[in-house]
Amino acid sequence: MDESSKTNQINKLNDKNQIVSPNSEVIERALVKDWDKEIQKGEDMEKYWALEAEQFDWFKKWDEVLDESNKPFYKWFVGGKINLAHNAVDRWIDTNKRNKVAILYANELGEEVKITYYELYREVNKMANALKKLGVKKGDSVSLYLPMCPQLVVSMLACTKIGAIHSAVYSGLSSVAIVERITDINSKVVITADGTFRRGKVINLKPVIDEAVLECPSVETVIVINHTGSYDDGANLNENEVLYNEIIEDESDICPAEMTDAEDPLFILYTSGSTGKPKGVLHTTGGYMVGIATTLRKVFDIQEDDLWWSTADAGWITGHSYTIYAPLLLGSTTLIYEGAPDFPDAGIWWKVIERYGVSKFYTAPTAIRHLMRYGDEYPNSYNLNSLKVLGSVGEPINFEAWKWFYEEIGNSKAPIMDTWWQTETGMHMISPIPVADLKPCSATKPLPGVHVAIVDEEGIEVETGKKGYLAITNPWPAMFRTLYNDEERYKEVYWNFFSNLLYKTGDMARIDEEGYVWIEGRSDDVLKISGHRMGAVEVERAFNSHPAVNETAVIGKEDEVKGQVIKAFLILNEGHELDMSYGEGDVTLKDALKMHVRHDLGPIAVLGEIVSVDSLPKTKSGKIMRRILKAQEDGEDLGDTSTLDDL
Ligand code: WT7
Repeated sequence: MDESSKTNQINKLNDKNQIVSPNSEVIERALVKDWDKEIQKGEDMEKYWALEAEQFDWFKKWDEVLDESNKPFYKWFVGGKINLAHNAVDRWIDTNKRNKVAILYANELGEEVKITYYELYREVNKMANALKKLGVKKGDSVSLYLPMCPQLVVSMLACTKIGAIHSAVYSGLSSVAIVERITDINSKVVITADGTFRRGKVINLKPVIDEAVLECPSVETVIVINHTGSYDDGANLNENEVLYNEIIEDESDICPAEMTDAEDPLFILYTSGSTGKPKGVLHTTGGYMVGIATTLRKVFDIQEDDLWWSTADAGWITGHSYTIYAPLLLGSTTLIYEGAPDFPDAGIWWKVIERYGVSKFYTAPTAIRHLMRYGDEYPNSYNLNSLKVLGSVGEPINFEAWKWFYEEIGNSKAPIMDTWWQTETGMHMISPIPVADLKPCSATKPLPGVHVAIVDEEGIEVETGKKGYLAITNPWPAMFRTLYNDEERYKEVYWNFFSNLLYKTGDMARIDEEGYVWIEGRSDDVLKISGHRMGAVEVERAFNSHPAVNETAVIGKEDEVKGQVIKAFLILNEGHELDMSYGEGDVTLKDALKMHVRHDLGPIAVLGEIVSVDSLPKTKSGKIMRRILKAQEDGEDLGDTSTLDDL
């Protein structure tokens, strides 16, 4: 690294109570220069969001900004007609962005593809027409099981263009999870690829879909992208399969955008809750669009010359909102990268940043902690001076990771935006903007137009500085509208927990005297493994489906790199022990269980420890009390055990 730039360093971080102020370069460049004033503007919430909404191309303007007549089923920009793909792509082709790179795709083989707005426009239209030909209509759902590749972006936008609802399933999830997600929404069409590049290998995705589709009677057509070259020498396809390239080839490159209503569904994304069944989080069009574009622009100060890189996969909400949709809605260039962060070595991300001159970089604490372990020489052998703003998302960031990210990656000049939000919120909710005074590890304050409170079980605000439930007190435009097919659960889980219709986030937090929010972990039985959300019940169900297991309780065990990993307490059936060999070969029951759970939940279910026990703590009504196990694990006070049946 250039030594002279190090002298520029204004803050050498020693402890987390130090305030980190932006330097003059950041302030000079910033679109929004006064944080407090911006927050004040958000006081008049409806006016604030309406002003932001004006910046888009509406086919018909809304009649009412917010309809609160049927709480908690809020509606935004009621009566407005708008198409998101039109705003993300078509809108730019008659401007000087026409030949600007929209998507910069790079992968671990060192390949790159640059797609301009005009090229993206043509490809999306072709794909949209192809989908229509396959019978996909407005309101139909399309499931996606894809790696990070340009056709993934095209597929999402093509659905959006014709008003179809996409449901992306992360390409690391198992066929069991896919079946659950496809059958919940009865998709007729599934889009997948032959495989993905990962750590020098090709991981095949197609066999996973083949297995899943057998159990999904709704699926009529599977569209296959020849991504890793399996079909280069001609296709060997099943009856219901078509190749992406072939179906779009002869389609017209013109496709009028569907006049979707602001409240028409845009996509469904499944996430884990505290019960076993995944929740289909439903997002709609107008408010979502306004929310994500506004927050990306302000939080990361996105301007014409920026190169934006969010490392999040499109299988998660960060991928939807900030890797794909928001940067395109701002007419920016978004980098999508396919491959692992440490292959061919732990310098690959820094190499990509240097090579393309990435200016805004958004990633997860777990990745930072992972790369940190390889030492400073990796980032230090690249020129990372192009970086202007950094971002963190997905779980609380610890001080060591914050410091390393700030000093080694951002060269003590690029501020870190610690963005707190959720699949359900759709957009950033609590986050600084670049001109803010930062307190390392605090997500700082609610963004303009967002209002939160720390409350007790009754929904009453607690004293300043006290820990409590993090609640959101006002509706926001990108909020999810319901859980698909499960309105009751939507009301129960999120809105009826407190008696006064506050939104329950599932997180604990406190707010300090200066109004900074500190996230203190989950209040429910949800684990955060490498920033991925996984319900304890989901994992327990996977263990319980194994014939040797009688009953399971699962908790999150702290882990230096992954944040949390799974610790499972098992009651085994008679005659079984974890270390005994199981089945054929040299496999113990413990190994067999690990494979079984991974098969069900995919590799994101990282198992830290499996122990066998004689009994599990339960309430008198028979519910497992995971918090007791957790407290024992952490060596904490057991708290109120009055409802406990037997320890
Ligand atoms: C949960 C939401 C937000 C998109 C990716 C994850 C935790 C998220 C932060 C942060 C502390 C965070 C919370 C939240 N979380 N961001 N900056 N600081 N915790 O979305 O899978 O829906 O998970 O992730 O626990 O509730 P998600």
